[in-house]
Amino acid sequence: MTDQKLTPRLEIRNLTRSFDGTQVVRGVSLKVMPGQVTCLLGPSGCGKSTTLRMIAGVEMQDSGEIYVDGSLICDTKFRIPPERRSIGLMFQDFALFPHMSVADNVAFGLKGAKEEKRARVEELLKRVDMLRHIDNYPHELSGGEQQRIALARALAPKPRIMLMDEPFSGLDNRLRDDIRDQTLAVLKDEDAAVLLVTHEPEEAMRMADEIALMRDGVIVQQGAPYNIYNNPVDKAATAFFSDINVIRGTVRGALTQTPFGQFLAPGVKDGAEVDIVIRPQHIRIDLDRGGRGPNPTAVDGTPARGVVERARFMGKESLVEFRMDYDGSILTASVPNVFLPKPGMPLWLMLRRDRCFVFPAK
Ligand SMILES: Nc1ncnc2c1ncn2[C@@H]1O[C@H](COP(=O)(O)OP(=O)(O)OP(=O)(O)O)[C@@H](O)[C@H]1O
Ligand SMILES: [Mg+2]
Repeated sequence: MTDQKLTPRLEIRNLTRSFDGTQVVRGVSLKVMPGQVTCLLGPSGCGKSTTLRMIAGVEMQDSGEIYVDGSLICDTKFRIPPERRSIGLMFQDFALFPHMSVADNVAFGLKGAKEEKRARVEELLKRVDMLRHIDNYPHELSGGEQQRIALARALAPKPRIMLMDEPFSGLDNRLRDDIRDQTLAVLKDEDAAVLLVTHEPEEAMRMADEIALMRDGVIVQQGAPYNIYNNPVDKAATAFFSDINVIRGTVRGALTQTPFGQFLAPGVKDGAEVDIVIRPQHIRIDLDRGGRGPNPTAVDGTPARGVVERARFMGKESLVEFRMDYDGSILTASVPNVFLPKPGMPLWLMLRRDRCFVFPAK
């Protein structure tokens, strides 16, 4: 017997797919629980859509299995057709049927008596706050309104799983935030398992219970947004979520010496190079006092001096680029917007040591 609470709604194991002799999905495994949102996040071409299409059943995997509620729905020998997988789809080009009213669009995938269908359509339109448009046609609606109808249509047959491929990318920013939050609330309410594809880290962090970070056909890291952001597996994973600064160092006795003090490099052999990686918002800056900076502390380490090269006002922050005295390299710090230093101004930089990542240099 399977325990309902512990059985993933969706599980894929070791999915692979090649096109023209190139493997674009290389052994992808993941689980999504009911009522959970997992974001498949990664750069263009890394295999996100291909993975989603295999789960939907519109693309056939070369190997690997797909399970829904613990039951096999597809491997290389056995295959339940797409329309019987209880999977809802929402893609970027959500294409409502233009010649059908909103009501008919939402009712499209529904079976049963006319009154029952009408009741479900009204329920869903109410849920997405579009009931007043029930008799309109798609061309009479804005992009955001159409999006909500597409969501209602996808949810109407009560899918156990929702697959969404960049569903919000056609919308402008402000509208997108609203629709996104609303969509999430509706999906959670329906207790569907959601797998959402995006290449935008902000979107993934906003939506996801779990993020699966994908690169070159494999999932390189998986976990809650907080963990992925604060404990990235490598430099590229760090860089995917924000700008980064990199300070190169050489290891001696499991330590590396840098202008910002020494850092632990456990398990890295002598002579090997490491990268100290830090996000711009975790660099602290302090004033130059006649060529001297602040005293070193346990939290901030040793300060190093740089000269402002360029400062850009970004609204809630300013991005300041420094040319560092020690080797002329550039470091970027993000500071609250009240501070916008002029080029040429000398300042002292410190790295918040608990926010530094040390990775073997590639
Ligand atoms: N039907 C196909 N025939 C040949 N190559 C394909 C096919 N579908 C996808 N590919 C290739 O597989 C790779 C992965 O494509 P996929 O659409 O899964 O990427 P993606 O991660 O969704 O990217 P994006 O963020 O740009 O949508 C790409 O290099 C793409 O060109
Ligand atoms: Mg894609």
